[in-house]
Amino acid sequence: MVDVRTVAVSGSASGIGRATCELLVADGARVIGIDLRAADVVADLSNVDGRAVAIDGVNRSCGGRLDAVIACAGVTSDAALSVNYFGVVALLEGLRPLLAAAPVGRAVAIASLAAIHPVDEAVVNACLDADEAKANALSIDPSLRYSSSKAALCRWIRRNAASAEWAGAGIPLNAVAPGTIRTPMTAPYLGSAEAVAQLDAIVPMLLNGHAEPETVAKLMRWLVSEENTHVTGQIVFVDGGADVVLRGDTGW
Ligand code: NAI
Repeated sequence: MVDVRTVAVSGSASGIGRATCELLVADGARVIGIDLRAADVVADLSNVDGRAVAIDGVNRSCGGRLDAVIACAGVTSDAALSVNYFGVVALLEGLRPLLAAAPVGRAVAIASLAAIHPVDEAVVNACLDADEAKANALSIDPSLRYSSSKAALCRWIRRNAASAEWAGAGIPLNAVAPGTIRTPMTAPYLGSAEAVAQLDAIVPMLLNGHAEPETVAKLMRWLVSEENTHVTGQIVFVDGGADVVLRGDTGW
């Protein structure tokens, strides 16, 4: 009998999450989509109650067998800290026991190239202290909110991947960091030549330019596959070289 893997995907109704679901279904996987609408589990990951609904809904739908979690849901709005950091961490932690019980449990989240843009350190620290009220109450330059949410997520991945709960339980925990991907999220920034030039200045994708959602989906598919036995704690840039342009050899 062919082993069918069950994968929970947040942000399944649009963009990268939707492309990921389509790819996994084509592979023969069983997908449990989580989103604000048009999903198997309809839940709002921006708040504590909604996160509980999501975790409970996946537990009910998966029948005790969950092989992977792919956390794609994200926003650029005022809710960025709550959705992109606290929503992702709560989902990963809430579903981790199911992954630990699976034969080949895997997890990946979507960070962003923006994680290497300027951030608000106080906000990042409040996130890592698990203090959502404080993170949202701190006065912040709005332009730093999204990058701060993604930088905090990257640091959380780095702090947790090698722990007893993740590596010790045999679960690789990674993030991908996309550059500019053509999705409904970026459509407003790609509407004119001027807007594109502005975006390209901060996300310089010298290798093949802007990417399609499937490009990110294929990378995540591998990171949560049985083939990934030893890659963990990594922030894998899928950005046409933007990280290289912005950071050069820093950190090596
Ligand atoms: P999208 O806007 O097409 O899809 C995001 C999905 O998340 C939507 O279906 C939306 O309903 C869902 N979502 C938003 N808030 C939610 C909530 N509170 N509860 C449950 N679901 C919620 O965006 P896209 O481009 O597919 O983005 C996916 C992820 O990739 C996000 O985390 C984003 O920050 C990240 N990313 C996107 C890049 C891009 O260029 N498109 C670049 C770097 C990172």
